Amino acid sequence: MALNLDAVGKPIGPLTKDYTWKDAVLYALGVGAGFDELEYCFEQQLKVVPSFSIASVFEFLAEAALSSNANLAGILHGEQDILFHAPIPKEGTLTTEGAITHMYDKGADKGALVIAEADTYHSSGQKLFTSIFTLFSRKDGGFGGEPGPSETVEFPDREPDFEEKADPGKDQPLLYRLSGDVFQLHVDPEFAKASGFEMPIMHGLCTHGYACRAVIKNLFPGEPERMTRFRVRFSRTLYPGIPIVTQIWKLEDGKAVFRTLNAESGEVVIDGGIVEWLSKEELQRREGLGAINYDGRVAIVTGAGAGLGRAYALELARRGAKVVVNDLGGARDGSGSGSAAADEVVDEIKAQGGEAVANYDSVSTAEGGQAIVDTAVNAFGKVDIVINNAGILRDKTLVKMEPENWDAVMDVHLKGAYNVTRPAFVKMRENRYGRIVMTTSGAGLYGNFGQTNYSAAKTGLVGLMNTIRLEGEKHNIKVNTIAPVAATRLTEDVMPPDWFEKLKPEFVAPLVLYLSSEQCPVTGAIYNAGMGYFNRVEMLTGAGAVVGDGKTVPTPEAVASAMDGIKKIDGGEPYPNATAAFSPMLDAFSPKKAAPADAGGGLTVQDIFAGLADAFQADAAGGVDVVFQFDISGAAGGSWNVTIKDGTCQVAEGAHGSPTTTITMGDEDFVKMISGELNAMSAYTGGKLKIGGDLMKSQLIEKLFKF
Ligand code: NAI
Repeated sequence: MALNLDAVGKPIGPLTKDYTWKDAVLYALGVGAGFDELEYCFEQQLKVVPSFSIASVFEFLAEAALSSNANLAGILHGEQDILFHAPIPKEGTLTTEGAITHMYDKGADKGALVIAEADTYHSSGQKLFTSIFTLFSRKDGGFGGEPGPSETVEFPDREPDFEEKADPGKDQPLLYRLSGDVFQLHVDPEFAKASGFEMPIMHGLCTHGYACRAVIKNLFPGEPERMTRFRVRFSRTLYPGIPIVTQIWKLEDGKAVFRTLNAESGEVVIDGGIVEWLSKEELQRREGLGAINYDGRVAIVTGAGAGLGRAYALELARRGAKVVVNDLGGARDGSGSGSAAADEVVDEIKAQGGEAVANYDSVSTAEGGQAIVDTAVNAFGKVDIVINNAGILRDKTLVKMEPENWDAVMDVHLKGAYNVTRPAFVKMRENRYGRIVMTTSGAGLYGNFGQTNYSAAKTGLVGLMNTIRLEGEKHNIKVNTIAPVAATRLTEDVMPPDWFEKLKPEFVAPLVLYLSSEQCPVTGAIYNAGMGYFNRVEMLTGAGAVVGDGKTVPTPEAVASAMDGIKKIDGGEPYPNATAAFSPMLDAFSPKKAAPADAGGGLTVQDIFAGLADAFQADAAGGVDVVFQFDISGAAGGSWNVTIKDGTCQVAEGAHGSPTTTITMGDEDFVKMISGELNAMSAYTGGKLKIGGDLMKSQLIEKLFKF
């Protein structure tokens, strides 16, 4: 077994979790809160302990561990960093999405580090926190990877500024586990003994919760909402009932370091703690930004000196983004130039208290695109958002369309988006974050008399988006396209005055702002937007018709007579990429595979074991010599043992005398797990799947059997 290096960058989630105030209080009690900190326990004045965040995304951690393929027998939760963006509301649904970001090699004798990062949003749309998990995998070092950075925390050479003592009870893990981590090690004395402990141990994350309460109590009492970072390293295990003490050194306003000790032995159980928090003024400023905000984000809006671009730039800045206001300052047909348009919008942004810089380069050249991105990087250090909006018109019918007018429109719209997005994408990829918006037009999507150049350029942007979507996916870069309708100088001579009044650019901005936000889960979509009305546009592919047998070329007459079927678009599908769209064509001439008997709803435990030999992957079994014992409880359950040896698989009913690994599970859960509805790691950490004997060998099951 080795780490699955391909898992880096693959999305995990979205995973959702509903919670109520009772879950928040149960967690608070689990980490030792009581009448002294009633704000954590009483629903009428409830504040959620910030470390509740980590208990609520436990499933993500389990999925990351599973997809890394780390050897479960040697895996430890090494470090935990949480960055808080907003206080955790007392109820709602949390949605968590992220990926493994790095795998570091500390050496064959030391082990490997698997780093995973996830963002969690509340059902209100507010981004709540970013969790950075470091899993230490003792048995997976030596794969030849980078050693990675090592962050050490220095404690000042003086007595701690604060010490907070606490007495976790003997039964504390029994209470804490109700918040989600029901791993047997914290409850089952026999399992704990088999794992080398005298008795069940405290959850590291339970002690983490005690430490979190301790730092808040001493540094910003009663105001957990001010916490912005809480980072720890888990250094030793602790038995329940042993008193602990958290030592805290305040380094400066808003930053302290801490550690938690076993108060009896003096051993450090939580080390390298860093806590950061906001001033009251900064907290108030953040609260004023709204749920969708761009605090810390850098946006480029092209053509932002007027019309729609100006509306986007002003609203982005009002909600916290640092904005590059790009505008060439030319006429409607692209002729001329000037700095006034961009400067005026920058002045407006500054007057409303925001941050912005002007850029006057043309998007129509590669140098211009690079200079726009350089302006963002030089002024604000990065690029998170690009809104490709700059536009001109040179309308003529096809026959009158001279090459210079064709080229000028192509250069600003289609090449312009390429010129800016390409260097910006490089920066976004570095930061694993990006939001790109393209601007198409109804003229391109549906056609408009006299706009051949414009229609072609605008639809070209959809093609550009389709492929950037695929290339950006694993870097957390999302790209979408809007077709706006708004009253601007581009439309002033084509719209009646009463429409013009209603079609304010500000009515398009909310969709563009949403698509530019962290909350946006969508990528590769097209939307119409105007007047506050929004709808989706989709490229659909019909089911089509087979003409001929795929061996002889069919005649045009045969195609003509099949046109009813060919042109049908009802039930059409949007395909995720060109290869997928091609597959119905291949399938049309391939012999149909027989559907597996009883697949899906009707699958039973009996079926699974009857089909196990067929599901066996002999080529994955080289050198494997194991006996799996399955004890499936419930009405449809039973006992089976499976022997894998010399590349063969034998399934027998009943108990084996000396199995390598024993799997114990309820019948319904087992069927769900095999049919892919229940994740094996979640089942394990959630107590639905119990593994006895050689834990590590259980990981072979996934490789040895493909259902
Ligand atoms: P607008 O003319 O008010 O704004 C466009 C801005 O782009 C201008 O300030 C202009 O100076 C700037 N610009 C032009 N060429 C540039 C270049 N080479 N480099 C940098 N900046 C440049 O027009 P509007 O309506 O705000 O248009 C914004 C976008 O929306 C355009 O892409 C347009 O094609 C698109 N659109 C607008 C519709 C509408 O109803 N207003 C309908 C469909 C699409």
